[in-house]
Amino acid sequence: MSERNLDFDKIIDRHGTRCLKYDFAKRRGMPEDVLPLWVADMDFETSSYIQDELKNRINQGIFGYSEVQTPYFEIVRNWMEVHHNWTPEERWLVKTPGVVFALAMAVRAYTEAGDSVLIQQPVYYPFSEVISDNDREVVSNDLVLKNNTYCIDFEDFENKIVKNNIKLFLLCSPHNPTGRVWTVEELRKMGDICLKHNVIVVSDEIHQDFVFHGKHTVFANLGEKYEQNCIICTSPSKTFNLASMLISNIFIPNPELRHKFRKEVNSAGISQLSVLGLVATEAAYSKGEEWYRAMMTYIRQNLEFVRNFVNKNLPNVKMIDLEGTYLVWLDFRKTGISPEKLDEIIVHRAKLWLDSGKIFGKCGEGFQRINVACPRSILKEALERIKNALINSDYNL
Ligand SMILES: Cc1ncc(COP(=O)(O)O)c(C=O)c1O
Repeated sequence: MSERNLDFDKIIDRHGTRCLKYDFAKRRGMPEDVLPLWVADMDFETSSYIQDELKNRINQGIFGYSEVQTPYFEIVRNWMEVHHNWTPEERWLVKTPGVVFALAMAVRAYTEAGDSVLIQQPVYYPFSEVISDNDREVVSNDLVLKNNTYCIDFEDFENKIVKNNIKLFLLCSPHNPTGRVWTVEELRKMGDICLKHNVIVVSDEIHQDFVFHGKHTVFANLGEKYEQNCIICTSPSKTFNLASMLISNIFIPNPELRHKFRKEVNSAGISQLSVLGLVATEAAYSKGEEWYRAMMTYIRQNLEFVRNFVNKNLPNVKMIDLEGTYLVWLDFRKTGISPEKLDEIIVHRAKLWLDSGKIFGKCGEGFQRINVACPRSILKEALERIKNALINSDYNL
């Protein structure tokens, strides 16, 4: 048998499938005919190997409490070795029903109410939510846009840590929405400052498999002292479009940090996870390689398509250089359109549901995030809609 689901141009109607991206426009205050390119999942079928394994498991018909043993771990470790040159140990693994859940558990395990937690905005908005929802304070070392790419102000990074008595840093690596894949030097520099001030690093690496330029480095792979001061959040959910399988693999090499994290997960009442997530993970990491490679090629072409379209048709809109993720960050500030007006134009004139930059932090105002993990015809339609809406808006295209 070979991989069957390699036609990424195929339009699959997701309406009426309990799909957050397509079925909840009205509920979320969007026009009903809006074209959605917001939430970070794909409009592609996952690997046929995963589909088949799930079908086999469903056909058995019993969905009692489920758990996995060493073979599961070996499959996960093999993926990490082959793709990231990283060899985690089995005892480091704590499985959780999602990465955001793990971020929340880390906030609860390693800080107290009232403490400040460091992030780097503009950043995936649940980073600030898991902090404030747990009655902690958000402190941002805002990323700095230079020459169309984002970089870190290390002086500000350290100052914010000292001034706010930071004990926990939520790192997004690769970074959503700026598309940065952090270099070893950048990671080391952040890691050293964190070690100097006893700041634990939670490295959210859910986008680790989407790298188009540069190379992803697992934070724990920087060396033992870094390894002992971090937790690594991974999941097959972005890579294989399995978000609703609710499974993530969190690695915590330091036993003390692991104990605290586990205690928090236990106190939240989580023990076993869904068997479907476990089956999907094993199938993805053991049989999904061909699908993964083909999907990456398609996304790379989509990114090229957006870049060419924007350069040719939207001279005052900039596509920020993207090294990783499938989320394009578009800078509309040169158009002179206010962030509020921009949102209105995108939603009500272009009839597009994107992620407005402001939800990623104040420094995201004037930007929009667009998810390119969709058939090229949908992407083309979305970009044409932006172009036409701007042409008709009396602003600088
Ligand atoms: C950086 C980052 N972390 C976590 C998530 C979501 O993870 P989960 O669905 O496992 O909670 C996303 C989804 O877009 C993301 O971009």
